[in-house]
Amino acid sequence: MDCKSLLVTGGAGFIGCNFVRLLLETEPDVQIINLDALTYAGNLASLGDCLDSPRHHFVKGSITNPELVGFILREYAVDGIINFAAESHVDRSITGPQVFVETNVGGTLNLLHEGRGAGIKRFLQVSTDEVYGSLGPEGAFSETTALSPNSPYSASKTSADHLVHAFHHTYGMDTVITRCSNNYGPLQFPEKLIPLMIMNATQDKSLPIYGDGLNVRDWLYVGDHCAAIWRAFQAGKSGEVYNVGGNNELANIELVKTILRHLGKPESLMTFVKDRPGHDRRYAIDASKIERDLGWRPQVDFDTGITQTIQWYLTNQEWLDQVVSGEYQTYYEAMYGRRGAV
Ligand code: NAD
Ligand code: TYD
Repeated sequence: MDCKSLLVTGGAGFIGCNFVRLLLETEPDVQIINLDALTYAGNLASLGDCLDSPRHHFVKGSITNPELVGFILREYAVDGIINFAAESHVDRSITGPQVFVETNVGGTLNLLHEGRGAGIKRFLQVSTDEVYGSLGPEGAFSETTALSPNSPYSASKTSADHLVHAFHHTYGMDTVITRCSNNYGPLQFPEKLIPLMIMNATQDKSLPIYGDGLNVRDWLYVGDHCAAIWRAFQAGKSGEVYNVGGNNELANIELVKTILRHLGKPESLMTFVKDRPGHDRRYAIDASKIERDLGWRPQVDFDTGITQTIQWYLTNQEWLDQVVSGEYQTYYEAMYGRRGAV
C-alpha cells in the first residue's frame, strides 16, 4: 500500500500519539494529518516535538463533522485513513453511553462515507478484542469468533466494525480492521488500570480493585501495537480482520502487585471495591493470523515493558499534572466515590 498522505484520527490520545511518533521516525515520505477533538483524553502535550515536524499537521476537530473531514481529505490529498479516534473507557460508557455512539459509530460512519467519496485507497479501523465478549478460563479469541459485546463501549466498537465491513462488502471499499488486547506504555491517560495504579501508588493513595481482582486481561506494549497497525495498513489484505495480542495474560491483582513491587509500596494500598457492572471476566487473543500472514509479532516482553512504563510515569510528572487537572478530579471522585474507594 503506497500512501503518502495519511489521515490519523485521535492522534492526541494514548495509542494515536505513539503511532504518530513512530511514523515520523520511520517513514520520511509520509505526511500525517492528525484530526483530534482534544476531549479530556486528548492532549497536545502528548505530541511534544511531533508538533514541530513539517510532516505533521494537527487539526482540532471532530470525526463526526462531514464538512471538516471532507475538506481535510481534499486539501491534503489524503490517500489513507487510520481511525484511532474514539471514546475508549468502559467505565465512562456505563455512566454515559450516548457520546460513545456519536463518536465511535457516527464518527466512523462519517469517515467511511467521506473517505469513499474522496476515493481514498485504504481505511484501517483500530478496533478491540472487547467486540468478542468475555471468555471462560480456557481458549482465546480468533478472527472468526462471534461478535458478542457486553458494554456500551464494546457495543459501539462492534457497530463500527460492522459498518467497516458493510462499506467493504457493499461498495468494494478497501478496508482493514485490527482488534487488539489491552495496551500499556507511556502517555496513557490515568483512568485506565496501569497508569491509575502507578499514579495512586506513588502518592500512597488506595488502589481500587474491582470485584475479586481475578479478571484477566492480555497486555500488549503500545509500541508493538503501533507496529502491528502500520504492518496491517501496508500489507494487510483488503476486507480482512487481524487480531493483535501481547501473549501476556495476567489477573488484575497480579498485575497490581507487580506494580507495587516495582515501586516498593505495600500491598495494603490495594482496596477491593464494588465491581464494574457487566465486568468481562477474561480476554485472550489468538494472534496467529497476523504472525503468519504479515510476519508481525510482539517484541517487548512484559517485564521490560512494565519497567519502562513505570519509569516513564516517574519521570514525566509534568505531563501527568497537565492531563489530570480539572475534569479528572471530578471524574475520580464521582467514579470511585460511588465504589467506596475515596
Ligand atoms: P484515548 O482515549 O487515549 O484517545 C482517544 C483520542 O480520540 C483522544 O485524543 C480524543 O481527544 C480523541 N477523540 C475522541 N472523540 C473524538 C472525536 N469525535 N473526533 C476526533 N477525535 C476524538 O484512546 P486510546 O487508548 O488511544 O485508543 C485508541 C483506539 O484504540 C480507540 O479506537 C480504542 O477503541 C482502541 N483500543 C484501545 C485499547 C487500549 O488498551 N487503550 C485497546 C483496544 C482498542
Ligand atoms: P481498563 O484499564 O479500564 O481496561 P478494560 O476495561 O478496557 O479492559 O481495566 C482493565 C481491568 O482492570 C478491568 O478488568 C477492570 C480493572 N480495573 C480495576 O480493577 N480498577 C480500576 O480502577 C480500573 C480502572 C480497572
